[in-house]
Formats: sequence, C-alpha cells, structure tokens
Amino acid sequence: MTHWKVHRAPVIQTEIQVPGDKSISHRAVFIASLANGPCVIRGFLPSEDCLATVSAMRALGIRIEQLEPTTLVVHGRRKQLTPPEADIDCGNSGTTMRLLAGILSAQPFKSRLRGDPSLSRRPMKRIIEPLTEMGAKITAEGPKNTPPLLIEGTKPHPIQYFMPVASAQVKSAILLAGLFAKGKTSITEPSQSRDHTERMLSYFLVRPQRDDLTVSIIGDQTPESRDFTVPGDISSAAFWLVAAAAQPRSHLLVKDVGLNETRTGVLAVLLRMGAHVKEIIDEVDEGEPHGSVDIQGARLKGTIIQGKEIPNVIDEIPILAVAGALAVGTTIIADAKELRVKETDRLAAIATNLKAMGVEVTEQEDGLEIIGGSPLRGARLQSFGDHRIAMAFAIAGLFAEGDTIIDDVDCVGTSYPNFYQTLEQIMKPPREPQIPVIGGLPPQE
Ligand code: S3P
Repeated sequence: MTHWKVHRAPVIQTEIQVPGDKSISHRAVFIASLANGPCVIRGFLPSEDCLATVSAMRALGIRIEQLEPTTLVVHGRRKQLTPPEADIDCGNSGTTMRLLAGILSAQPFKSRLRGDPSLSRRPMKRIIEPLTEMGAKITAEGPKNTPPLLIEGTKPHPIQYFMPVASAQVKSAILLAGLFAKGKTSITEPSQSRDHTERMLSYFLVRPQRDDLTVSIIGDQTPESRDFTVPGDISSAAFWLVAAAAQPRSHLLVKDVGLNETRTGVLAVLLRMGAHVKEIIDEVDEGEPHGSVDIQGARLKGTIIQGKEIPNVIDEIPILAVAGALAVGTTIIADAKELRVKETDRLAAIATNLKAMGVEVTEQEDGLEIIGGSPLRGARLQSFGDHRIAMAFAIAGLFAEGDTIIDDVDCVGTSYPNFYQTLEQIMKPPREPQIPVIGGLPPQE
C-alpha cells in the first residue's frame, strides 16, 4: 500500500489538462458496444474503473482494441452479446456494475457480477427494483441487497418509473434496459442528475426525450456507430480548482474539460465562495459541451450546499468540504445522505480527516457543518480506500502547517492514475519560466 507525503505549495500560476471524464468514458464503451459497427473513442480515461467496463464488455463478446492508452476501437455488434464464461469483475466501479446490470437484464442468458470489498457493500436495491419490474430476475447474494448480483435476463417490458433517489447510475441502467424493450420506457428523477447517458444515446442517434425531470426512450433501437471524443473530467479538475481558488494571487487555467451543466456545480459553489471563475465553452459539437475554466484565487468565505445542487456536486463534496475548511466562516452541506453509500461513507471520512487536521466539524445524518478559516495542521490521514478522499486531503495538505501523510492511496488509480505527478509539480518551488502544461496523461511511447 502506497502513501503520499504532502507539504505546503507555492502560489499556483499555471495551466493544466486533466484526463478523460470517467462517467463519459464508461458510457462511450457501453453504448459503442451496442452500436451497429466500429467506433473510435478518443480521450478515454484508462483508469481501473473504466478498464473494468472494457474487460466486462470483452467478456460479453465485444472486440475492443486499445490503440493507445486513451484511444479505443470498440467493435459494436448490434446489441448482440454472448454469455460470459465466468463472473464479471466490476472491481471498485459502481458505474460498471449498475449500468451493466441494465444491459444484462435484457439478455437471454444468466450472468453474475461481483466487485471488490467496497463495491460489495454498496446498495443495489435501487437498480434491482426497476429492472425486476422490467422482467429480469436479479438475486443480490450479499446481505441487504448488496453484490454479487446474479442476473437472469429477458426481453424487457417498458416501464414508467419514479426514482426515489436522484442517481444517474440508476437512470442509466433503466435507459439501457429500455433500449432493448418494445415501447416507451420513462424515468422521472426527484432532481436532475448527470445526463451523459441521454446525450450519448442522442449522439449515437437513439433519441431519448426529456420533459423536465422525465426522460423517455423508445426501445428496439440500435445505436448508429460513430467516433467520439471524451472531454477532460471536471471532477478531476475540481481538486486543482479548489487548490487555486483558496489561494489569493493564484491563477489556474484548466483546458479541454467537460462543461456539461449537470456537472459544473463546483464552479458555481466556488464562485459563491468568492473565487473568480470564468467558463469558456469551446464546442458542444459531440453532444458534450467542453472548454476551459479560468480561476483566480481569493480568501474564500463559507457557503451552504444543499437541495437540488447536491446531485450536481455529488463527487465534489469531499474537495468542497476542504474548500469550506479553508474558507472564513461556516460551510453547511445538507441533503447529502447519498455520500454515506459511496466508495466509503464519505461524510464520516471527511469529518474524521478534517478533525485530525484541527478543523471544527459537526457530522449530521445528511451532511456536515464546517467552521473554516483556522490554520490546518499536517496529520497522518486515511484514504478509507476512497480515491476522492485521498485526493481531497492531498489538496488540504498543500495548505497545512507541517507534512500531511495520506495512507493507502492506490485507490486513486480508479479515477485519476496520474494525480500525484501533477501534485508533485504543484508542490515544486517556482522556477522561471513557469512550466506551461502539467498533468494530463504521460507521453505516449
Ligand atoms: C456516476 C453517477 C454518480 C457518481 C458516480 C458516477 C455515473 O453516482 O457519484 O461517481 O457515472 O453515473 P449516482 O448515480 O449513484 O449518484
């Protein structure tokens, strides 16, 4: 198990690129696999989670070539999959397991999905209920509806489903099953979650319809094969954005990053906290808006993050909690009970680590109250096996007095394998001229 040692960083004045978007990379592989021919996917995120999706689709008979770490050719087989010879291992990836369960619910064969100890604790009732209503037989073999999942698929019936939690994974599982159904499947969310599946299906010329919080798909359609470029991941950029936002005089430009408005809540929160944030949208051409974010630091002030904003910043809460600790005043995070069932119980993990750094924090059932603005103390912290906790607290370490050690950081490979290289660049004393581009993926051989 690897650990990181982090120390105070000089003022950030640079530009970076972040690796491909995790959610979009998964969807590109799933939907291209169902398409009617080969699709080239560029900008793919070659992280453990997304590679679990690639292995899963290969196990289901799809030929996927990896020309470069970030370039795949997925040979779609017109929605024809073959039965897997063994259990499919989804690793740490909830997106792989839940979206794949949607596809497998519609296949005329049995399959079994399993995951690592963290994924094996995550709730699956939220997909089992709607997919069972569509006709699949799904047995959760773990306690309280947790994985492994044994799935016996069938030709699905279309349904009208009201989701109890705003979850893009649940919505996507139903949409993907709905693609195989005869007729119209509709899903209503309690509030808008990320809409990458809808956009990608549209891009592949299957056109889901949206009416406010309801999205519908007409089944029995085959996605048209097309090439696709994945933009950079705003959730990965968020770590550097907060590092810059919380430091007066810093100035950071993040280029080629996804700016889908169901994901950019982090920018709105940082703006409210006092940072100077500018979004520059380059293109919306491939169904996903993307461009640059220019951010200048300030003395941040506390804020409230709650309600409908939560699904939009669901993966950014750990780093926004760190921003709250660095801000003057109180930051309140509410309506965020979902964080208790992520890769770890993130509310508990954030509270434990902030307290270890000397921050006054109160944990609520559905959120946190953070009294920010006091100096952070370097400490030895746990990642709790959760990539976003490891990265968020590495950023906290950039602002702390003394060294911060983060234990058990291998988990970062699930979403951002090169995070530490960028962190090292940020921690280096400034040189003249400044390094123009840091981060992104290593040079190709
Ligand atoms: C994701 C959706 C979110 C998010 C996860 C990725 C996706 O989960 O937290 O990291 O790719 O659909 P939920 O759908 O459970 O909110």
